[in-house]
Amino acid sequence: MTTSRIRKAVFPVAGLGTRFLPATKTVPKEMLPIVDRPLIQYAVDEAIDAGCDTLVFITNRYKHAVADYFDKAYELEDRLERRGKTELLELIRNPLPSHVRAVFVTQHEALGLGHAVLCAKPVVGDEPFAVLLPDDLIWNRGPGALRQMADHAEQTGAGVIAVQDVPREMTSSYGIVATDGFENRHGRINAMVEKPRPEDAPSTLAVVGRYVLQPGIFDALESTQRGSGGEIQLTDAIAAMVAQGTRHDAYRFQGTRFDCGTHIGLIEATIRFALDNEKLNGPAREAMQRALDELGVASND
Ligand code: G1P
Repeated sequence: MTTSRIRKAVFPVAGLGTRFLPATKTVPKEMLPIVDRPLIQYAVDEAIDAGCDTLVFITNRYKHAVADYFDKAYELEDRLERRGKTELLELIRNPLPSHVRAVFVTQHEALGLGHAVLCAKPVVGDEPFAVLLPDDLIWNRGPGALRQMADHAEQTGAGVIAVQDVPREMTSSYGIVATDGFENRHGRINAMVEKPRPEDAPSTLAVVGRYVLQPGIFDALESTQRGSGGEIQLTDAIAAMVAQGTRHDAYRFQGTRFDCGTHIGLIEATIRFALDNEKLNGPAREAMQRALDELGVASND
């Protein structure tokens, strides 16, 4: 088992984002904003905070906006510079810190999350790495969720999977794990299943979109057959490794997760980040109160 620190982070961003149509007809769902930053930026920041210096985006032919976002915008920079808009210029001048590089890999076919991760194999090579699903936005005042997990992975050499408890009726939306029991925030996984029906779920501990994986996952993915939804599932490859005795720990991270793959999750994240923003806190509260009052009056009419 390797116990080195993760340096590479994989972002599967080739999904169609059909839940947010019509917005996602032209805008990738990863580019939907929470306050002033697109979802992908929050995930990237979390990866950099965890110590990653190589960002691997698994993308497709419709997602040029993601690559453009991390590229230089010469014309815009030039215009802002000439107008003396230094604050705005700073916001776009360096999309990534100088020690961080972005790599784009095309996923030609939408064969599932497991397949997307396998596309990163030539870039990741033989070292532990992270996978972040940008739909899952994790808010925390302290260290980011991935940093917490990377610390645990570095100490143990285990694969580490973020989890949170969900109501039993929700198990069919998640990968679900069963563990040997928990010590502090982590427990060793002994079973893992993708999107089980509530009556079949081995627990109510759901996988959240943050993983620290050991490079052995690529071999496991190569022999993984299509599973839930007819797709090659990352969950199935991890389950196969677990069955062979490779340690993977479920990790109850510190922080609040917003499922920005759903309408209400995106709205809730927006509310949270607005209320946590110095400039927007007051106006956001007032706006919410006004909306409640006005709708309340309307429904009493
Ligand atoms: C994916 C994973 C699932 C996990 C979820 C977390 O599912 O396959 O195991 O629980 O992300 O967001 P998706 O939401 O892409 O269907």
